[in-house]
Amino acid sequence: MHNPDPTDAIAAVTHAAPYPFYARLRAGAPLVFEPTLRLWIATRADVVLAVLAHPALRVRPAAEPVPRAIAGTPAGELFGQLVRMNDGPLHAAHRPALQRALAGLRSNDAPAAVQHAAHVLAGSVRSLQDWCFALPVASVAALLGFGAAQLAPLAQWTREFVACLSPLSSPAQLETASAAAVQLLAQFEVLASRSPRAGSLLEAVLQEADAQPEVQQRVLWANLVGLLSQTCEATAGLMGNSLVALAREPGLRARFEADAQATTALALVAETARHDPAVHNTRRFVAEPLHFMGTDLQPGDAILLVLAAAQRDPQFEPHAPDCFELDRPAHRLLGFGHGPHACPGQPLAQQLAAHGLLALREQSSWLRPGAQLPALRGYRPSVNARIPCFADDAALHRA
Ligand code: HEM
Repeated sequence: MHNPDPTDAIAAVTHAAPYPFYARLRAGAPLVFEPTLRLWIATRADVVLAVLAHPALRVRPAAEPVPRAIAGTPAGELFGQLVRMNDGPLHAAHRPALQRALAGLRSNDAPAAVQHAAHVLAGSVRSLQDWCFALPVASVAALLGFGAAQLAPLAQWTREFVACLSPLSSPAQLETASAAAVQLLAQFEVLASRSPRAGSLLEAVLQEADAQPEVQQRVLWANLVGLLSQTCEATAGLMGNSLVALAREPGLRARFEADAQATTALALVAETARHDPAVHNTRRFVAEPLHFMGTDLQPGDAILLVLAAAQRDPQFEPHAPDCFELDRPAHRLLGFGHGPHACPGQPLAQQLAAHGLLALREQSSWLRPGAQLPALRGYRPSVNARIPCFADDAALHRA
């Protein structure tokens, strides 16, 4: 069936086949102004890497540090404290504790947390999409030290809170997001009122933060909520797109089924993150006049960095960038960002998605040998995340 091109780089995120369109954009100028979106578009890997490393390009517009729609609300206050949404001193003071604590996770921490969370959630999760959303967040909550009874509610509040990150959300969703922000912070206060569980991610973050005198406690708590919210949609997309690849790529399902270990699942997730990633783009904002890659940029200008296009750039991945190849020697990625804001959760995210698929294989009948995977029914509306929707009958089949 002929698939018309996406109308622009935002529509491409949720389009069935965006990659030929991305390739055409990549063949154009380093930065192309798209008047309808009022965005500069960057798709080449060298340009995306240079923008992400440029100290004068910011993660938020100077005039709007918090989106207008949520400014002055609890969701807006939490948003404004996230390292992801700040440059400068707040970012410099609070990122290292998160980064070091995540880097200190032991190799079996994530698999054990996923196993535990999968058993806890098994009775309450109803659809394949809900499973992809809830399991990674509940696993991070378990790693942080939350008890079994809190995992499902935390996953639900996180899903509600992340609606405030999308310009597509309705006023009702934004209100729910604020209520969820209040609940999430309250759960962390309760957790903090006790000594952190020995060996937990919370204990590691607090120990790392002790070594950093500029850390503000309130901002740190907001960023612990941030670990849940950064996990939520992106890891749901990574799990979901890996399931799409399992159904589409010849021979892949058989290899996945034959491997009792996590090796194939980890390679599947790594190649999916390269070939059909969860986060298609991010943005940077111009704070002062700047001559960049032959273009004059003005304060207020915004650049859309199409990470999903850049990591298929043959200059970045010379070997068959458009082919899905499980066994490539390295899965080079830009979909987790680069530079000062690069994702500190990348290894964890890949483990969560891979072990999430293994838990699904154990606990549901979809991934049982011979069972048919639910059909892809398009993608959830989003300006940056590619999260598949599966057929309506995708209710959880218990094994
Ligand atoms: C498939 C899953 C994930 C993807 C694709 C992803 C992608 C990204 C990207 C692209 C950025 C940088 C955005 C930018 O520079 O504009 C980022 C930042 C971040 N991610 Fe992830 N992420 C994922 C999962 C996680 C997980 C599991 C965690 C932690 C539990 C996490 C924690 C963070 C944090 C804290 C930041 C902000 C870093 C900073 O601004 O310095 N992410 N992520």
